[in-house]
Amino acid sequence: MKKANKEKIILVTGGSGLIGKSIIKDLTEDSYIPINIDITSAENSCEHFKCDITKEDEIEEVFQLIYQKYGRIDGLVNNAYPRKEAFGADFFDVQEKHLVEQLHFQLASYYLCCQKVLPYLQKSNGGSIVNISSIYGSVGNDFSLYENTKMNPPGVYNMVKGGINSLTNYLAAKFGKDQIRVNTISPGGIFDNQDKKFVEKYIQKVPLARMGNPDDISPVICFLMSDKSKYITGQNILVDGGLTCL
Ligand SMILES: NC(=O)c1ccc[n+]([C@@H]2O[C@H](COP(=O)([O-])OP(=O)(O)OC[C@H]3O[C@@H](n4cnc5c(N)ncnc54)[C@H](O)[C@@H]3O)[C@@H](O)[C@H]2O)c1
Repeated sequence: MKKANKEKIILVTGGSGLIGKSIIKDLTEDSYIPINIDITSAENSCEHFKCDITKEDEIEEVFQLIYQKYGRIDGLVNNAYPRKEAFGADFFDVQEKHLVEQLHFQLASYYLCCQKVLPYLQKSNGGSIVNISSIYGSVGNDFSLYENTKMNPPGVYNMVKGGINSLTNYLAAKFGKDQIRVNTISPGGIFDNQDKKFVEKYIQKVPLARMGNPDDISPVICFLMSDKSKYITGQNILVDGGLTCL
């Protein structure tokens, strides 16, 4: 049976962050009931559950609390990106322990959030998961964009995001029979007061001639949570102003 948006409980990890706030705002405006799951609090109007998504027991406890309170869960937006001190270290400076740590924090957390939410989506007879990746899960960086800036994109980021893209395909294939759809959204660069030299070069490359904004991403999430996307699963939607079509 078709569910109206207003009955849908959508969990959003990292709802206090740059893109997360816009996701919460747009889901609310579209009459969903978003719930922010974040390690820090935010000014969002929706309910917030403090949770460290790198800790399995915290994810389990919070999802259970939400289910007990609302009686159902219909969607998950896997958006939070836990960072450790080693994030952004140069390729040659990354030590094995940092590599393993980052894979655990950034890749395992996405896996665990999916693993813990899926039984609830099965109880709801269907649902939608959106994993937020990045274009750099699909393509390599143009390093000329970062010349003469302090920006130094980390290789682990690309590895993690590529892993997230593959996790989406696996889950879409495994849980389609339960009417659970799993998709990836891969944003391009989002404007956040980056170095002007970088921004100028970046927008010259983009067919739509600007960097992205959080509100370029969030409407796509609303679409993927809605029944309008009921036959879409296992896809990676690149929202990048056309950068990767070149
Ligand atoms: N900003 C960009 O240019 C860009 C581009 C492509 C993809 N993305 C992806 O979009 C997503 C959101 O990015 P953003 O720029 O909004 O990030 P952000 O840093 O602004 O927000 C991330 C949020 O995650 C929360 N968080 C961090 N560690 C957590 C933990 N252990 N448990 C729970 N919450 C935790 C933070 O408190 C924060 O609210 C990320 O997955 C990122 O990789 C961002």
